[in-house]
Amino acid sequence: MIKDLKRLSIYFVLFYFTAFNANAQRSEIDFNKGWKFFLGNDSLAIAPAYNDSRWRSLSLPHDWSIESDFIKDALATNQGGSLPGGIGWYRKTFTLSSSSTNKNISIEFDGVYKNSEVWINGQHLGKRPYGYVAFSYDLTDHILPPPQKNTIVVKVDNNQQPDSRWYSGSGIYRNVKLISTNKFRFEEKTLFVTTPFASKDSALIRVNGFFKVPGLHHGTLNLKISVLSGNEIVNPGLLTIDNVIQSSDFSSTFTIKRPILWSVDNPYLYKLKVELLNVAGKQFDVVSMNFGIRSFDFNSEKGFSLNGKALKLKGVCMHHDLGALGAAFNITAAKRQLRILKEMGCNAIRFSHNPPASEYLDLCDQMGFLVIDEAFDMWQKRKNKFDYHLHFKEWYKKDIEAMVLRDRNHPSVIMWSIGNEIREQFDSTGTTITKDLVSIVKKLDPTRPVTSAVTETFPEKNFITRANALDVIGFNYKDYDYAELAKRFPGQKFIASETASALETRGVYEFPGDSIRIWPPNSKVQDTFSANKDFTAAAYDNTHAYWGNTHERSWLAVKNNPHIAGAFVWSGFDYLGEPMPYPKFPARSSYYGIIDLAGFPKDVYYMYQSEWSAKPVLHIFPHWNWKPGQLVDVWAYYNNADEVELFLNGRSLGTRKKSDTTLHIIWRVPFEIGTLKAVSKKSGKIVLTKEIKTAGKPARIELIADKTNLKAGGNDLSFITVRILDKNGNLVPHADNLVEFSISGNGKIAGTDNGYQADTISLKSKKRKCWKGMALAIIQSTEKKGNITLTATSGGLPPATIILRNN
Ligand code: GAL
Repeated sequence: MIKDLKRLSIYFVLFYFTAFNANAQRSEIDFNKGWKFFLGNDSLAIAPAYNDSRWRSLSLPHDWSIESDFIKDALATNQGGSLPGGIGWYRKTFTLSSSSTNKNISIEFDGVYKNSEVWINGQHLGKRPYGYVAFSYDLTDHILPPPQKNTIVVKVDNNQQPDSRWYSGSGIYRNVKLISTNKFRFEEKTLFVTTPFASKDSALIRVNGFFKVPGLHHGTLNLKISVLSGNEIVNPGLLTIDNVIQSSDFSSTFTIKRPILWSVDNPYLYKLKVELLNVAGKQFDVVSMNFGIRSFDFNSEKGFSLNGKALKLKGVCMHHDLGALGAAFNITAAKRQLRILKEMGCNAIRFSHNPPASEYLDLCDQMGFLVIDEAFDMWQKRKNKFDYHLHFKEWYKKDIEAMVLRDRNHPSVIMWSIGNEIREQFDSTGTTITKDLVSIVKKLDPTRPVTSAVTETFPEKNFITRANALDVIGFNYKDYDYAELAKRFPGQKFIASETASALETRGVYEFPGDSIRIWPPNSKVQDTFSANKDFTAAAYDNTHAYWGNTHERSWLAVKNNPHIAGAFVWSGFDYLGEPMPYPKFPARSSYYGIIDLAGFPKDVYYMYQSEWSAKPVLHIFPHWNWKPGQLVDVWAYYNNADEVELFLNGRSLGTRKKSDTTLHIIWRVPFEIGTLKAVSKKSGKIVLTKEIKTAGKPARIELIADKTNLKAGGNDLSFITVRILDKNGNLVPHADNLVEFSISGNGKIAGTDNGYQADTISLKSKKRKCWKGMALAIIQSTEKKGNITLTATSGGLPPATIILRNN
């Protein structure tokens, strides 16, 4: 029973700091280290006495599929990344610390792909078919006190393929935590902080939750709620709850004056602390979390606004793999993806078509991205033989609830999506399931809109939108219909949940650059064009799948239709699997990305940057190594200028400017060796100058680290870009040198890549051919501190070395 909320008047900041950090009553331990792994099937491993000494030792997160070579006849096909699935077992033996006696202990898996089953000390805890969702088990009744040993065993079954329409990865590929609490405790995931009202003058904060107590009756308990902003306590409060019987929910609402609003430019986070205390002030449990204060709105005519200001959603869709690291989550790799996207001006992400790692959302909170969190790619009707349709009926409720409960405190999350291009949009079951899913979501989070990404743009034929349950309708592609949508769906709110599906390989150019290629041309013909022998697609923005459009036209359509709240480009990064337009191996990763699999921007990155960011942009391409006399299409993306003048070896080739309907400019230039120079000008004054020179022969290897100081501990990464340069320091655009990496000191090579979609060498290999002059090596810190030396060698060139510090 809730009595009242009393303000506690004076706290000393110092005391408070200590209290925020001292988390004695609840511990959340990283449970990623010290696992044993066996690739294969051995159910005897369930027994605690099983001898796993011959199993491989490893740390989580782990994806065994990415460790394999690419396989021509993989069961997952090249749509699944041409990598194997299989069955794997994990075991971990551990002893609880003495402080854990009499505690409630649970284990939390952020994602296991897939069909996991978990045992502790031989006792079966449960199974979880869906591989993209977090789940936990209460271990309290089975766990043995110290000094006895406990054994957790996890079976992962990703044997039946094809499953996801993209690369899934296999294994315990996200973080695992061991959580220990008092018997008096907040129930996991029940804490829910919302901001029913938020303006720059004041904000209303509401904290809901649920706690349990041992035994039957426990009289009066207090809840202390406090908010920390920087060094300041914004609002301490005390909530008294009488007559607690077994458990109680609680709710507290309070005001913060002149809040700092969370936004994409200033993603300010407050810290909330909720303590469960007895009347004498003894702390039983304490939970701390970040939250943001912001308001947003979707309007059927004007689109999206954040904190009262119009904001177009400039978003991308992202699958969960991290390139050469596969599905194994790594926060540094995720941060790098977000940094590259932020630089481009991107402000939103649709995690397609499943919830991301929970730490990915922490990063979106911290770095200022607006997120669509999506539950499913299919419901009861399948897209692939062994996909989640097999489990939907039994599990959908638990799985969608798990998504909302895990993610609803993230200020970055602005919308829930109940599904992508669900086949039930075409029959009446779509209406029933939509209503059901939306009501499940709304029960757990009434504050956020619910959407679904659909393709059917006629309301009478779309059984998902006919449910009248979605707050915002997401349309994938069909940009030619945007203007019509407002008439067909009066009063509705829209996003372009997928745009483009344009196809590019970094560094590949075919002429003419301005003739559009639709590839595949329709649903019947896979490949009427003679496919490029080297499995590439040109990097001019002129090639797209028949259901999509070029990046430029897709973006213009969203930009010019204010009722479309924003675009989510398919896709931000290339991902493993789905290598449209090539139906067959060796193509094994996608061509859709604005950024390639290695994290190197394709040219079209700068089109978005010129439109989405305030940064001055002038980008010209292609490279300047062609046959004398050959006609080369030179493109430029620019902003903050009226026009661009191009010079070849000092001679002007003319000035061009963008029109209302194009976002790039072109010169058709007969090639001659030398220097191409572009100059952007505003009111006659030079804004930016860019030069590209004809490169000579490869002369040296350049290594550029995205950071040179790593944190010891085994998780941190440095991404090393390898560039093959001529003797004058120009990138050699056709260089395909085989580079061999060797490492010494306290680091290891976690993966290598070059962004080429049909490279069949394992992404774990220490040798990598450059693609268009570039490659990538990912260096991972080890436990021990000390220097790391990476050396790159390539026949005929002097070796290059870079030294990193593992601190
Ligand atoms: C969409 C689908 C995406 C991806 C994309 C490729 O229809 O929702 O998952 O397959 O096509 O163009």
